[in-house]
Amino acid sequence: MPIYTHDRQFHLQGQDISYIIRVLENGQLEHTYFGKKVTDRASFTGLAPFPNEPLGNANFPLKESGFTLEWARQEYPSYGTSDFREPAIEIVEKQGTRLSHFVYHRHQIIKGKPSLDGMPAVYGEKEECETLQITLRDPIMGAELDLLYTVFHQRNVVLRRSEIRNNGTDSFSIDRLMSASIDLPDHNYESIQLDGAWIRERHLHRSALKPGVHVLDSKKGVSSSWHNPFVALARPHATEHEGEVIGLNLIYSGNYRASVEVDTYDTTRLMIGLNPFDFKWTLEPGKTFSTPEAVLVYSDQGLNKMSHSFHSLYNEYLIRGVWQHKERPVLLNNWEATYFDFDHDKVTSIAASASELGVELFVLDDGWFEGRNDDTTSLGDWTADKKKLPKGLEGLSDEVRDRQIQFGIWVEPEMVSEESNLYRQHPDWILRAPHRPHTPGRNQMVLNLGKRDVQDYLIEVIGNVLKDSTASYVKWDMNRTLTEVFSDELPANRQGEVMHRYILGLYRVLEEITSAFPHVLFESCASGGNRFDPGMLYYMPQTWTSDNTDAVERLKIQYGTSLVYPVSSMGAHVSASPNHQTGRVTPIEFRFHSAIFGAFGYELDPEEMDDVTREKVSEQISLFKKERKLLQFGEFYRLISPFEGNDTAWMIVSHDQSEALVAFYRVLSQPNAGMKRIRLCGLNPDKIYEIEWQEGSSMIHRQYGGDELMNIGWQIPPFFTGTVKTEQTHFYGDFQSALWKFKEMK
Ligand code: DGJ
Repeated sequence: MPIYTHDRQFHLQGQDISYIIRVLENGQLEHTYFGKKVTDRASFTGLAPFPNEPLGNANFPLKESGFTLEWARQEYPSYGTSDFREPAIEIVEKQGTRLSHFVYHRHQIIKGKPSLDGMPAVYGEKEECETLQITLRDPIMGAELDLLYTVFHQRNVVLRRSEIRNNGTDSFSIDRLMSASIDLPDHNYESIQLDGAWIRERHLHRSALKPGVHVLDSKKGVSSSWHNPFVALARPHATEHEGEVIGLNLIYSGNYRASVEVDTYDTTRLMIGLNPFDFKWTLEPGKTFSTPEAVLVYSDQGLNKMSHSFHSLYNEYLIRGVWQHKERPVLLNNWEATYFDFDHDKVTSIAASASELGVELFVLDDGWFEGRNDDTTSLGDWTADKKKLPKGLEGLSDEVRDRQIQFGIWVEPEMVSEESNLYRQHPDWILRAPHRPHTPGRNQMVLNLGKRDVQDYLIEVIGNVLKDSTASYVKWDMNRTLTEVFSDELPANRQGEVMHRYILGLYRVLEEITSAFPHVLFESCASGGNRFDPGMLYYMPQTWTSDNTDAVERLKIQYGTSLVYPVSSMGAHVSASPNHQTGRVTPIEFRFHSAIFGAFGYELDPEEMDDVTREKVSEQISLFKKERKLLQFGEFYRLISPFEGNDTAWMIVSHDQSEALVAFYRVLSQPNAGMKRIRLCGLNPDKIYEIEWQEGSSMIHRQYGGDELMNIGWQIPPFFTGTVKTEQTHFYGDFQSALWKFKEMK
């Protein structure tokens, strides 16, 4: 039984976690506890903070002297009485006041998890999870607020969201309605966040909490690469393997806000939800508004365990459809091979050459539609350019498939170029403030996906592209942020709805298209990783992690991304050397070893490879296919962080612990380097594992106990010492890497 209730106390239990809520004296909710599992008790009253000196301000006129929200740990705080920290809810009443007082009204426990209409959310069956719905009420406003909490019996996560109903007779406006907020009893944490920019996405930053409010957000209309909609609070001593960590992620693809507030009494408030900035939603009588869903994870064994909770939840209960557990094809994308400069013959010969190497899917990127020879024109006109592709998409895709390789295609449906038929026909379909100049972004404008007509048009036209090309894969791109946001469909006082309506419209389009083409593999992209979030993963099981294909840079980007998102969700490609983003020259082995920890593929012209490289690539692809299931769906462990030095290591273990792949990367050569031993993770201590590797012309076989490898460690074979290079020399020069397979001995 994962949810216990006693009088006015609620205790949610997951596999190793407890989440406790109580009703406070004034009817608001107390956040009593979130952390390692505790046995249920009839009363957790003793966990409440001891009141300090009675304060001079706004005490509630209740029996117990000194009761104030100023130091109460709250579950869903509001502004206007005695709490001056960040509120979770801000409603503007018709009188213009920002006051609300939502108090406990009723609750119910639901088997399973109610669905969230129109937005992505975790799903769960009746036997797997339970949902607590607490309804609060503000009688003056005539509004009801549902707080929903789902807990899975066998997981360490709590899913939270809120829903408000206007049962009164007047409209009110919602200026803020967060998905989740918790108050922790101390501030002895460091915050961990994933920040970056284009081609530098999701770099890990960690810093001690300080008094005041620390905010991560997006105002860009996408979840954005500036800060992923994720934050973790880790105890200062917590590592990848040990210590307490709380992780918080939002299943949403647009403007969000996450905040960590340390107050004057050294307690911490953690919150996430829609960004209140530029948000104002009018709720008319009888209407309901729902927030996106937040995912709260608790780990008592460091960051790896937190990541496992996210990975496994997203793999099992967020990503859907035929590709959910299916091995992803090895693809080759022509973007870095040709950019806009290709034609039918070039495409078919790249596809043929890729197919000979063992590649399974050819993806035609940007530039295939009418008049699109650079990025200044044609977005919106989704018919094949007859000059480049005289046989159309149909003829092209047939001929590609004749080369024994599947066909996939790139689209950027949310955008329109000024120089396009679509814009000429529907200048009113874009997001722009007509009385103001419009800021260009990659020479394109954003369609107003809040409009039903625009949504219907996209569903039809992109559906036609898929039918004509019979594509088995789609790369759904989105290459600019939202500026001068305005909708001519809404009155002046409702312009604060536009950003969220855009995302709701996008979700409707994605739901329709992905359900109409259930066998197509969809990959989301936004100039690389500008919209890498769980909202997009709900519709599309993988995301193009970054436009940066440099293998060294990818170590950081993939390491950071793996904090929250599973390996199978990260598009990762081997590209040409010198790399197009950094100019760096790296060996093909290093590029391969970095890209295989992802949805693997190539981003280069295979016809430009010399014979030796082709031979190696073909062998690498065979090796990848052999290990694909393990690589994409095993349990991923980070071992050495690229953010802390010259080396990186990670590994992946099968769920039955019978096999594992360990990868080690040394970026720059070190003269006369010291020895290196890494402790492996996730193996069975009682099993014996065999490893074999090539040394010169001989094959070396060794056996180790799982306990040896985890407690004593795996010794990296010697590095080049700076004197004689022999056949046995490993790690010679810069950008060296190795991949070892450990297999249980039967
Ligand atoms: C941005 C993407 O991230 C690239 O991979 C490529 O598809 C270009 N857009 C095409 O314009």
